[in-house]
Amino acid sequence: MIVDAIPGDKSISHRAIIISSLVSGTSSFEGFLTSDDCMATLSIFKALGVEIEQNGPSVRINSHGIEQLKAPQNILNVGNSGTGIRLISGVLAALPFESTITGDASIQKRPMARIMDPLRQMGATFLGNNQTPPLTIRGNKHFLDNWHYSMPVASAQVKSAILLAALTAGVSVTVVEPEPCRDHTERMLRLFGAQIDMNNGTIKLKKSVLNSPLEPIQIPADISSALFFICYSLMIGKQTTFLNIGLNPSRTGCLTILKMMGANIAIAEHPNAYEPMGTITVSPSPNLKNIDVPLELIPNIIDELPILAILATSASGTFKVRGAKELRVKESDRIAGVCRLIKALGGRIKEYEDGFDVIATTLPLNQEFTFNAHFDHRLAMSAHIAAAIYKSHPTIEGEASIATSFPNFMEIMSQFNK
Ligand code: S3P
Repeated sequence: MIVDAIPGDKSISHRAIIISSLVSGTSSFEGFLTSDDCMATLSIFKALGVEIEQNGPSVRINSHGIEQLKAPQNILNVGNSGTGIRLISGVLAALPFESTITGDASIQKRPMARIMDPLRQMGATFLGNNQTPPLTIRGNKHFLDNWHYSMPVASAQVKSAILLAALTAGVSVTVVEPEPCRDHTERMLRLFGAQIDMNNGTIKLKKSVLNSPLEPIQIPADISSALFFICYSLMIGKQTTFLNIGLNPSRTGCLTILKMMGANIAIAEHPNAYEPMGTITVSPSPNLKNIDVPLELIPNIIDELPILAILATSASGTFKVRGAKELRVKESDRIAGVCRLIKALGGRIKEYEDGFDVIATTLPLNQEFTFNAHFDHRLAMSAHIAAAIYKSHPTIEGEASIATSFPNFMEIMSQFNK
């Protein structure tokens, strides 16, 4: 089976809108993800005065640059998107007007001190004492030049908020990451002509004038979304080829894990200037073995752990995850969510503060179960895949969240089940 409908990468789609809006000129993208999260980012930049035409996955951003962005009339709403609120707050912090940004009930519980503290050190003003959204930002341009920040958490969202604040304020900055985390912001800034160096976890952005690339930019399909069906293919033993998937090394840790488990995976990468992409073929791999997930891979696979945990129920041995306490502060507490889901399926899992052990056992078939995904897209999709594998009859609450990242998930699911 060939799957060519995995939608565009969520992280890159957010950055496409944000970075193009800061550049004077017209930028075009193909493969934009039209999910609720990315559409919220698009609406926010329209509210800041950027002209954006979007027709399905084609998007054209016509901006007059940072100086022309205007104060929004209303509160800005990111919906469910942590990437949206953290990256856009970095931009708003360095724009010369006041704005308030918030999101849904889950966003209003997510920690923002991780961006507010460094942004304040750079020169930003957040009004009030709240460390969760809504955030009211009194923007200004007086940011420190040549500031240096060592991030306490490996977070691409924090790194990107700082880089985008520096870009918007017109200053140079150096950010050091404790572990490698996704580098889509750096790659897109470089594509737009920024002077940016990345060396062993140290990212130096020099004050730069950016230009829109002349050619339309292709956004690869999202490997985090593809992984649901890569795991499904492995569990049902179906050879499947996935086309045009993003293969940025800061995102392919999940494929490393699958190979360590004994999965038969072939990758053919097409050369690409700014974001690697290519074809992934999975072939039946009947003897998957669970592993101790290497700690250094955790930031790279943080979004993929729920579906990898479901795959682990069908492998032998124990799948051990530690050093992943960030999972507790994602769209929901994903450690608790994965544990609830595997128990609902009749499986064995042991919960730790910073991870879990999935202990292989034979799971019952044809069960009825109810699972509350707490409006967390990755938990809802993991529950659907698990239900299909174990032929269960689930009631999944909060599954509308799937539209935040993977609007055609159920269509692809039904193609698999034809
Ligand atoms: C993202 C970074 C990750 C990831 C999120 C998307 C991004 O979060 O979990 O889904 O686009 O920068 P952290 O950087 O906070 O770990």
